[in-house]
Amino acid sequence: MKVKSEARSNIALVKYWGKRDPHLNLPAAGSVSMTLSGLTTLTELEFVDAATDVFVLNGTTLQGKGAAKLSAFIDRIRKASGTDLKVQMTSENNFPTAAGLASSASGFAALAVASAAAAGLELSEQQLSVLARQGSGSASRSIPGGFVHWHRGQLADGTDSFAESVAPPNHWNLTCLVLVTVRGEKDVPSTLGMNHTMASSPFYQAWVDSVAADIDEALAAIESKDFDRLADVAERSCLAMHASALAAKPGVLYWNAKTVDLIHRVRSLRAQGTPCFFTIDAGPHVKVFCESEHAPRLQAAFQEDPNVLEIIMASPGEGARLVNP
Ligand code: PMV
Repeated sequence: MKVKSEARSNIALVKYWGKRDPHLNLPAAGSVSMTLSGLTTLTELEFVDAATDVFVLNGTTLQGKGAAKLSAFIDRIRKASGTDLKVQMTSENNFPTAAGLASSASGFAALAVASAAAAGLELSEQQLSVLARQGSGSASRSIPGGFVHWHRGQLADGTDSFAESVAPPNHWNLTCLVLVTVRGEKDVPSTLGMNHTMASSPFYQAWVDSVAADIDEALAAIESKDFDRLADVAERSCLAMHASALAAKPGVLYWNAKTVDLIHRVRSLRAQGTPCFFTIDAGPHVKVFCESEHAPRLQAAFQEDPNVLEIIMASPGEGARLVNP
């Protein structure tokens, strides 16, 4: 049976940086995110009697490591459903992949939903989150919609490390402006960057120790829709994550000059009276959050900014799901 699924990317407000188990993608600490309406992966998949799996992403057939990673993910489904059929998948992102924006979160979330359904497995949202997590940690957070908490969990098998929604998309009218600063720049992949930070940064343990309190703070800010409180904790979490990476040996620096300029720009717009904050992942792009009433003003400001090549606008999005099930 051919099935179609869709999933959206997400941006962390309290970051995930470091694994307590690299094979199961179990995080050293929890994290908090918002699922994004504007950045969607659509995946079509079926199990067929063929010699190999075939994965086509944005029109290109994956080879080598990329294909092997997806086959290893599908092996989990094959094991759980007792099949040895192969997969034929096509997947499209509606956002520019060449911009270097992470698509693994929406990609693995869509793949988890489609492959489980095509194999006839009936998984709960929690089980789908655990499954997606094993493809890419942050993909666990793209299974639920709206505002999301990914639990660190305690168990060695990872069954208690899943993400769940703490508030639906319509809870809070936030806008996220994704400011693309450069095209096609090769970053240090997040897994490499976090493993290297963990192995060599004297700030790593301090980072891990700081996360639980930031999660409590972010969840309280989301619940009470306290924008200034969320701004404080989100910027702090982002800067602390990058500080731990910067202190690794050698240091991992994800920012370019435009990234730094935009950090100052966001802070000066805020000082001038437009409530907004930034966050940055394992790359040079800057994501700016605001309450939606301020989005047009910020959009106009960043359209004029020479540091910004493109702006992608997103708001709180729905969780991953089958399309026309
Ligand atoms: O899930 P991964 O392996 O792509 O790691 C994501 C890491 C960050 O984007 C930097 C932080 C986060 O919490 O999303």
